Amino acid sequence: MKHFLSINSLMATEAMDLVLRAKEMKDGDYRSDLLAGKTLAMIFEKASTRTRVSFEVGIRHLGGDTIFMTPADSQLGRSEPLKDTARVLSRYVQGMVVRTFAQKNVEDLARYGSIPVVNALTDMYHPCQIMSDMLTIYERTTHLKDLVISWIGDGNNMAHSWINASVYFGFQLNIASPEGYAPNTAVLERAWKMGAKVFVTDDPKAAIAGSHFVNTDVWASMGQEAEQKRREKAFAGYQVDDELLALADPNAKVLHCLPAHRGEEISEAVFEGPQSIVFDQAENRLHMQKAILEWIYS
Ligand code: CP
Ligand code: NVA
Repeated sequence: MKHFLSINSLMATEAMDLVLRAKEMKDGDYRSDLLAGKTLAMIFEKASTRTRVSFEVGIRHLGGDTIFMTPADSQLGRSEPLKDTARVLSRYVQGMVVRTFAQKNVEDLARYGSIPVVNALTDMYHPCQIMSDMLTIYERTTHLKDLVISWIGDGNNMAHSWINASVYFGFQLNIASPEGYAPNTAVLERAWKMGAKVFVTDDPKAAIAGSHFVNTDVWASMGQEAEQKRREKAFAGYQVDDELLALADPNAKVLHCLPAHRGEEISEAVFEGPQSIVFDQAENRLHMQKAILEWIYS
């Protein structure tokens, strides 16, 4: 049985295979009965538009069914332990797609349950998003190893999954985060040990220089709303605007997992401008997640 808890759940060759398979599925508007007779529980402890809808649609494209659950309408909100939820749901459904806070939560669901678990975002990682982003990039260039990809902003779940991806795909990853908001040291050190080319700085100009794909994300992630004001101060100067983008490769494309806060991490002009590919990026969640589900269930 397979779980997809982070990009590290994959073997090195499987990561590229998933990108190729997702592209094939996209081009063929793929449908199958792989999940016929199967129901997946979608356990979401945080809000979602893209992840929820793309998973629910993708699961239906593969012939399966979903049940959407939140703490507000299940016993999760009344402190029933995850390890009990895992064992109960394993008696009813054939998989769990989980958006939660601690990475340990998805690990515990996988450990105590007896069905596959997919990480649909934790505080630590957002692997489905970054695998989809690799598809979005691959559609524009097949030379993944020669790319410079920059991350301007918080060293958050997205940044961590980018670091993991850089191990398998071999691109140069330049990360600029303000002091105190750099990515997790253990995640970085693991990647460096595995030969990843990850450069970490607090200078957005140094990170974006010459990059082919520029990424950013909100300054306060879900669960960090109370830190918004403090973060706005810390991240001043980290907005991806025309001036900063001018330092990237002239053909650079801009990525944002969405939802975006225009006027904070990204300017309105860049978000709506010709270099932005954020809606292609959003679409690709559907195709990549179908490929991930096929990897788990076939
Ligand atoms: N990018 C992303 O995961 O979006 P949602 O929060 O809408 O799912
Ligand atoms: N870093 C953001 C990503 C949202 C898709 C968050 O965790 O809220």
